[in-house]
Amino acid sequence: MNDSTRPAPADPSRPPIRLLFVCLGNICRSPSAEGVFAHLAAKAGVSHRFEIDSAGTGGWHQGEPPDARAIDAAARRGVDLSTLRARKVQEADFHRFDLMLAMDRTNLTDLEARKPADADVEVTLITRFAGPGAPEEVGDPYYGGSEGFEQTLDLLERACAGLIVARK
Ligand code: 4NP
Repeated sequence: MNDSTRPAPADPSRPPIRLLFVCLGNICRSPSAEGVFAHLAAKAGVSHRFEIDSAGTGGWHQGEPPDARAIDAAARRGVDLSTLRARKVQEADFHRFDLMLAMDRTNLTDLEARKPADADVEVTLITRFAGPGAPEEVGDPYYGGSEGFEQTLDLLERACAGLIVARK
C-alpha cells in the first residue's frame, strides 16, 4: 500500500452519509445496487464515508434473499448479495437516511407520496448519477431473462461510481 491507495483517515467531524436504495420488491434492483455500491466504495477506500441499506416499496418478499438470478449475476462480478434480506420501506427510514435512491419513476413517486412533511431526506432517481446518455430508469428485470440482470448491473455500476464521486 502506498500513499495513493491508503484509505483516508476517518474524520469524526464528517459523519457517514446514509443511503437507502429502493425498488419495488427489494429482491432484484435495490439489493444489487447495495452490493455494487459496497463493492465500489471498498475498492475506492471510502467505505467509512457511507452507511447503506436497501428496501422495497412493496412487502411481498420480506425476509427473502435476493432473486437467485441477481445473486448469480452479481457473484460473476465479485459482488456477494447472498446475505441480504428483503424488507419494506418504513416511516422511520425517511428520518434515518440522508438520501433515498429510487430505481424507477414509480418508486420515486411512491417515496415522495410517503415522505413525512418533517423529514429532511432527499429522494431522487439513482440514474441522476450515471452520467450523460444513461437511461432515466433502472428497468425491472424480474419478469425477463438473465440478460436483464446484466443490464441492471451495468447501469448500477455507472450510477454507483458516480454517486461515490459526488458524495464521498
Ligand atoms: P425489484 O423486482 O423491484 O427489482 O426487486 C421485483 C421483484 C418482485 C416483484 C416485482 C419486482 N414482484 O412483483 O414480486
